[in-house]
Amino acid sequence: MKALFLAGGMGTRLKPLTDDLPKPMVPVMGKPLLERNMLRLKACGVDEIILSTSYKPQKIKEYFGDGAKLGLKIHYICEDIPLGTGGAIKNSQEFFDDTFLIFNADILSNINIIEMLKFHKKKRAAVTIAVTEVENPSLYGVIEYDEDFYAESFTEKPKPSETKSNYINAGIYIFEPEVLKEIPDFKVVSIERETYPLLLEKGYSIAVFKSSEYWMDIGTVEKYKQVHHDILNGSYPLPEFHEEIQDIFIGDHTTIHSTVKIIPPVYIGSKTKIDAFSVIGPNTIIGNHCSVGTNSKITHSIVWDGISIQDSSIMSDMILNSVKQGSTCMKKNDMKKETHAGEALGPIA
Ligand code: GDD
Ligand code: MG
Repeated sequence: MKALFLAGGMGTRLKPLTDDLPKPMVPVMGKPLLERNMLRLKACGVDEIILSTSYKPQKIKEYFGDGAKLGLKIHYICEDIPLGTGGAIKNSQEFFDDTFLIFNADILSNINIIEMLKFHKKKRAAVTIAVTEVENPSLYGVIEYDEDFYAESFTEKPKPSETKSNYINAGIYIFEPEVLKEIPDFKVVSIERETYPLLLEKGYSIAVFKSSEYWMDIGTVEKYKQVHHDILNGSYPLPEFHEEIQDIFIGDHTTIHSTVKIIPPVYIGSKTKIDAFSVIGPNTIIGNHCSVGTNSKITHSIVWDGISIQDSSIMSDMILNSVKQGSTCMKKNDMKKETHAGEALGPIA
């Protein structure tokens, strides 16, 4: 089965994390979000992936190549000018001659794709859309549906007065290829604002698959932090983490000095080195190929791959990314720049 990822957005709301990286490539516990999503799909029987890209496509291509490393076949489509969600789907139509899946590439969820496929067939739908309940629907696309779970209306980013529903488009779709003919060629098209309402008008059946599984759009820095908090605390069960003893995950070839104190939950990637007398955690993620100098204290923080943290550094509630050498240290809320052993937080090299 084939799946299309809409991965061309600029990730503006996730800046500065997306200054040098497209949104689907942001790391989630030591792996790009897109890789986590592709591996989930592979487990559901997907063997071919189409990546619809536009913003910094080379970063995605360099990492995944032809997909062989993951046991998948990956194709790339790159838009010179972003075509919008509908335009991007139309632009990849050559790949689809059977039922296929579409994903917004900035979602982390546990929505059961196998159940969704069964539901799609049972409903004999042209399109099936997963919906999830959120507190504030104004940030998303609200879908109203009838008692048989067929969509009745779509309202994208509604004002509070415009909707009574809290069920929103989860950005996961199953399509029959026949609907692609309803999207115009070579045009910027929004699947949510234009195509779905048009399909309803034309009498296509759009089924709604209601899910109460974990779901998060990693569209803002706050949501990015929330996802990590949810993984560390078990709301999103990442098997490789929660099978670990006492919520401490330590990757392969990582060395931790015997005097280091680890306060769970903590995730430390592979080939990382933590020097003597440091304290790591709680609620801390340190990526792959990092080093933490002696006498440092890192709490409630996310450290991306390849970062070296100097001796006697103290940090709390921070995201450190490694995209730009030497600089990109992002403060969130109150970064506690305490002095420790006479030194402030050292530069990130
Ligand atoms: N190829 C391509 N081209 N991809 C695009 C383009 C484009 O022009 N524009 C956006 N995308 C991709 C983004 O990279 C992202 O993965 C996905 O399409 C959705 O775009 P967002 O910009 O993240 O949209 P949103 O979060 O505001 O709203 C969408 O997602 C919500 C769920 O998270 C809508 O589909 C809402 O209806 C939905 O509720
Ligand atoms: Mg989004």
